Amino acid sequence: MLQRSPVTIAALRLALGSLLLATLSIGSTPAAANAESDRHKRERSETVARGEYLVGLLGCGRCHTEGYLTGTEATGPLLAGSTIGIAWSGFEGAAERPGLVFARNLTPDPETGLGGWREADIVRAMRTGVSKDGHQHLPVMPSANYAMLDLDDLRAIAAYLKSLPPVVRAIPGRTEPGTEPLHPYVRFGVYRFDPDGSVSERPLP
Ligand code: HEC
Repeated sequence: MLQRSPVTIAALRLALGSLLLATLSIGSTPAAANAESDRHKRERSETVARGEYLVGLLGCGRCHTEGYLTGTEATGPLLAGSTIGIAWSGFEGAAERPGLVFARNLTPDPETGLGGWREADIVRAMRTGVSKDGHQHLPVMPSANYAMLDLDDLRAIAAYLKSLPPVVRAIPGRTEPGTEPLHPYVRFGVYRFDPDGSVSERPLP
């Protein structure tokens, strides 16, 4: 028969004691704090869901997801940027070598995406067209329209972007007109071609 040694009994008491303590501490967690945190989580997930809806509606992925600029489906991860550039200058001389701009990686990777941005930085960039590093976005990124969004909608968009899985994906930097293009690109939105053959560029904001 198993001998109950004092050590076994002491261990049993200890185990029972901690069980009791654990039960007590669960019981003593204020129900109000739990309800508060549940409410916070629910509101947060509603905000993220609204952000997802708005990002879909506003077509962010049409530029910021690889594939859509030249095709009809995504060929890269959602909102992780496009390595197909968008030409932003059509002036004579620069027509063959336009400047290129690339829709950035919007996922929260710290190095290649928006990981180092706070939600407020995203909201500010959307409202002003100025990046966190201070550069003015070209009007290819329709910031002027997005600046009209309600603050709550912009916050929801920012919350959704921060909730995306981070994707490590370096996107080429913007190039100036006259630079040899190193990446494929599309042209849109920045030029005006007139019947007399003249080409003019949409002014920067
Ligand atoms: C027509 C293409 C296009 C659409 C649509 C678009 N973007 Fe952009 N976006 C760009 C381009 C191009 C840039 C880079 C602009 C530059 O640096 O001059 C950019 C830059 C950004 C930046 C700044 C990133 C940085 O590193 O500075 C953010 C944030 C952003 N876009 C978010 C969005 C969101 C959110 C949406 C949808 C609500 C959206 N974009 C829709 C093309 C687009």
